[in-house]
Amino acid sequence: MPRLFFALWPDGVTRAALTDAAALVDVRDGRRVRPENLHLTLRFLGEVTPEHAAALDSEPLEARVAPFEFTLEHAGWWRASKVTWLAPLAPPDALGALAAALDDALAERGFEREPRPFRPHVTIARGSRRAPRAAGPFEVRWAVQDFALVASVTDPAGARYEVVRRWPLGAAASD
Ligand code: 2AM
Repeated sequence: MPRLFFALWPDGVTRAALTDAAALVDVRDGRRVRPENLHLTLRFLGEVTPEHAAALDSEPLEARVAPFEFTLEHAGWWRASKVTWLAPLAPPDALGALAAALDDALAERGFEREPRPFRPHVTIARGSRRAPRAAGPFEVRWAVQDFALVASVTDPAGARYEVVRRWPLGAAASD
């Protein structure tokens, strides 16, 4: 069964800016996420049955959110998940609205609702047992035009992500 999640998948310019910003963060231990794997998770699904996976493909997922922009200018760390991340200091409402719209669309397709609050972040290192030392300054601007369904494939070299499908934003945003 594929391991799936929805994410903002950066274009090349944004990925390069995220990579540069991540390099400014003094991650003191743990494993850095490879540049090609950087993303912002909107909704984690985990292992998905073939029936549920088909339900994701059956009709377009409605994202009643217009394209938007935000900036990430903040680095931090979560002790419990041992994750070091970049995040926006002031996430735009559109980002939370997009995650909520996905949760609604998934609930209509028989998925459980996400019980935890959405905390937008881009993981830059895993297995970090200590907070990063002072980072930056940096400011990554991200113009969001679409979102993606991504499969996580485990290789001997670690996790690799494959974009399965993309949906444009704004398709149903104007009505
Ligand atoms: P993370 O970056 O905070 O670790 C692919 O693994 C993506 O799904 C990652 O961005 C990861 O978030 C997220 N993810 C992995 N396992 C998860 C879980 N059990 N709950 C929520 N998100 C998860």
